[in-house]
Amino acid sequence: MTDAGDPTPKPRKLHVKSFGCQMNVYDSQRMADLMAREGYTETARADDADLVILNTCHIREKASDKVYSEIGRLREFKDAAARDGRQMQIAVAGCVAQAEGAEIVRRAPAVDLVVGSQNYHKLPELLARSARKPVVDTEFPVEDRFDALTPPSRRAIRARGVSAFVTVQEGCDKFCAFCVVPYTRGIEVSRPVARIVAEVERLAEAGVRAVTLIGQNVNAYHGAAETGGSATLADLLYRVARIPGIAQLRYTTSHPNDVDETLIAAHRDLPQLMPQLHLPVQSGSDRMLAAMNRKHTREQYLDVIVRLREAQPDIAFTSDFIVGFPGETDKDFADTMSLVDVVQFTTSYTFAYSPRPGTPAASIAEQVPEAAKTERLHALQAKIREREAAFNRQCVNRSFDVLLEKPGKLPGQLVGRSPYLQPVHVMADRSRIGEIVRVHTTGLMVNSLFGDIIAAPPQEAPLALAGAGE
Ligand code: SAH
Ligand code: SF4
Ligand code: F3S
Repeated sequence: MTDAGDPTPKPRKLHVKSFGCQMNVYDSQRMADLMAREGYTETARADDADLVILNTCHIREKASDKVYSEIGRLREFKDAAARDGRQMQIAVAGCVAQAEGAEIVRRAPAVDLVVGSQNYHKLPELLARSARKPVVDTEFPVEDRFDALTPPSRRAIRARGVSAFVTVQEGCDKFCAFCVVPYTRGIEVSRPVARIVAEVERLAEAGVRAVTLIGQNVNAYHGAAETGGSATLADLLYRVARIPGIAQLRYTTSHPNDVDETLIAAHRDLPQLMPQLHLPVQSGSDRMLAAMNRKHTREQYLDVIVRLREAQPDIAFTSDFIVGFPGETDKDFADTMSLVDVVQFTTSYTFAYSPRPGTPAASIAEQVPEAAKTERLHALQAKIREREAAFNRQCVNRSFDVLLEKPGKLPGQLVGRSPYLQPVHVMADRSRIGEIVRVHTTGLMVNSLFGDIIAAPPQEAPLALAGAGE
């Protein structure tokens, strides 16, 4: 540690910018916690920071390219700081760091440190070394980096709000033909149940009420159980649900092939488990699913949806879709469009296929022209938006349990989330942040609901969540 032996490290400022998925958000918070111990306080501004960390994403070309434009901007701040006699360090962390390593320092000499997604627990030591010359560390270490991390202070937890992400699983062994994650994050590793429970207990004691268990492939979770042997994600959910104060649970992101009977049962039996599931399917065409190496068919995916709906009729599904995967025809795309109608996803993320270096799909000769990708993307987005708007309209004039999370834009207003993650605005005193209240919704603006806190729920017919064709 740089400041070992120095009881009062001088205050320095840290700016962390997170790109990509929730795993990166979690890692960014852990980096901030670690550097807090070294005397760094967080700042929202990059220009007056002593250390800027870019926690990067490699998933698509656009995401990856952003890193270099960000570094360009930071270099100006760094030069300005140097003119004022102040040193600013720039660190690139996350998945681009893992994938490109030393190439980043070659292309952008302003960078002091490149630290891979598995090594950021060594940040203080690496930063000290980088004072002399740029350092690159992208090895996959043998030690568990989670064990080496600093837990957040109570104040940091409170500042982050009443809902939190907790990484329970990392990496992916699925090797979908388009995806860099197995290369940037490595093989699937699960944290032991006891460690996760300790982390959630700490969060709950500081006021956190909702927890989302996260992992690149979270339902492949198989961590060490507290009583020996290995626990499934469902076992973990039941255990975390017993922690006092934790009222709402979610998990993301799941793979359809790893939805087992225990997880389906958890959706039926566990009241804390929110009726919302992000279950990416990528395509509705069996031919594309095979080419993508998803290892499941359209029917198998639909079967999982049906079984989850039988267990929990209120469950709403969202997905990720890729259009323009190599070899995708109009017919394949039509299958994707029809799947959206069949499942009636409440919303979804859509992406145009982006060839990624080192992945099998990038070298397939039959790439889809950009114009066709864009056209399909727009058509799919229009369909998804239409369904999303219809779902949001259906959610007006109903009642939901809402976790009040933070102040709204108007004075006296708070914002919370519906079980389906829509923002819900109500008039309520700030002291009620962290409470779960019953809200009767009265209006809708774009994707936000508005409503009033009520005492008891009226009798209501169920939401229309299932599609016609299942
Ligand atoms: N582990 C999750 C998420 C992976 S990344 C899962 O298995 O679903 C998030 C999403 O990015 C993916 O679901 C996919 O839709 C999209 N994606 C991944 N690689 C991509 C690529 N090369 N081009 C376009 N979209 C991609
Ligand atoms: Fe990528 Fe597929 Fe793994 Fe998801 S399951 S992270 S899409 S390889
Ligand atoms: Fe991006 Fe890495 Fe997440 S590539 S999506 S930040 S796992």
